[in-house]
Amino acid sequence: MKRVGILVGREVTFPESIINSINEKGGGDVVAEMVTVGGIRLDEAKRYDVIIDRISHEIPYYRAMLKRMALEGTLVINNPFWWSADDKFFNFSLAAKIGVAIPKTVLLPQHSYIKDITSESLRNLEFPLDWDGIVNYVGFPAFLKPFDGGGWKNVSKIHSLEQLFEEYNKSGTLCMTLQEGIEYDQFVRCYCVGQEKVLIMPYDPSKPYLSGMQYVNVEDYLTPELHQRVEQDVITICKALGYDLNTVEFAIKDGIPYAIDFMNPAPDAELASVGEYNHRWIVDAMTDFILNKINTGWEQPNYHWTSLLNPAAPKTKPKSPRAAKKSAAKPKSKATTK
Ligand SMILES: Nc1ncnc2c1ncn2[C@@H]1O[C@H](COP(=O)(O)OP(=O)(O)OP(=O)(O)O)[C@@H](O)[C@H]1O
Ligand SMILES: [Mg+2]
Repeated sequence: MKRVGILVGREVTFPESIINSINEKGGGDVVAEMVTVGGIRLDEAKRYDVIIDRISHEIPYYRAMLKRMALEGTLVINNPFWWSADDKFFNFSLAAKIGVAIPKTVLLPQHSYIKDITSESLRNLEFPLDWDGIVNYVGFPAFLKPFDGGGWKNVSKIHSLEQLFEEYNKSGTLCMTLQEGIEYDQFVRCYCVGQEKVLIMPYDPSKPYLSGMQYVNVEDYLTPELHQRVEQDVITICKALGYDLNTVEFAIKDGIPYAIDFMNPAPDAELASVGEYNHRWIVDAMTDFILNKINTGWEQPNYHWTSLLNPAAPKTKPKSPRAAKKSAAKPKSKATTK
């Protein structure tokens, strides 16, 4: 019996749907349920084969717990080590290098710092900042937004240097980026599952956030060429970042899809927000992805510590009885980091 756990925040319909869907399609060999955890011992045994993580970005205890579970070979979607390390400015820069169109973006030193960080602690920082150089490069309108974040929090559209200072002065200890605003002709949000399956959803950001009115149903919204490019860019990005579940957002201007946000490893999938069609698509795609992983197995991601474990970290790939016999007869080879 294989176990799939889901770790959730306030959302309701996605957890219910994915649990039901995996339990139905898993045919009794796979059980999906809500994760229940408390104090975690350092020698905690494996509890789940797969965990779908929807909230550890907001709850450090969950992030630490998931990393501990990964040590037992649990497949965590998405990889808690990489998610901890990633940020939006890094991923904008990486995507630009691998051929995706990205609006001009500048990483800004924080406005404020935690207690005990004084001007002496900050001697590596240029002062004053070359604000003219920064805004000449990015241009107006621009978006001032956190280098890590979600839910449109602390995101503002900027039209002038005065407004930039006003918003930057309010950003406190958050690390912010300033990004060229794309005055888009079209806008899409794309789900990507397993770094290969893509759903392009026409999206209207002018409608209220999570209102259920943002996901619009327009047939043939993109030309076939644009559709193909967007799909390819989504796969390129998700493969490079290693996210098995993500959404990538594009503001499209003069036929160029600019990727403006693609660090969404726990994307909105609630029925009332994304609508029936998109909700069903993501539930089905995730169910198929997880059941396929359980059936065919997966390699441990390449963490340095995997090569130090003795005996070697078990591959979760199920072996045929014949293959198992054969490998039992062979002397044990050295653990690899593969
Ligand atoms: N460079 C840009 N050009 C045009 N619009 C932008 C740009 N950056 C952000 N926006 C607008 O602001 C909205 C929120 O920005 P962004 O997606 O970066 O924030 P977020 O907090 O990650 O949002 P979410 O949690 O919905 O993914 C976008 O959906 C888009 O409408
Ligand atoms: Mg976004």
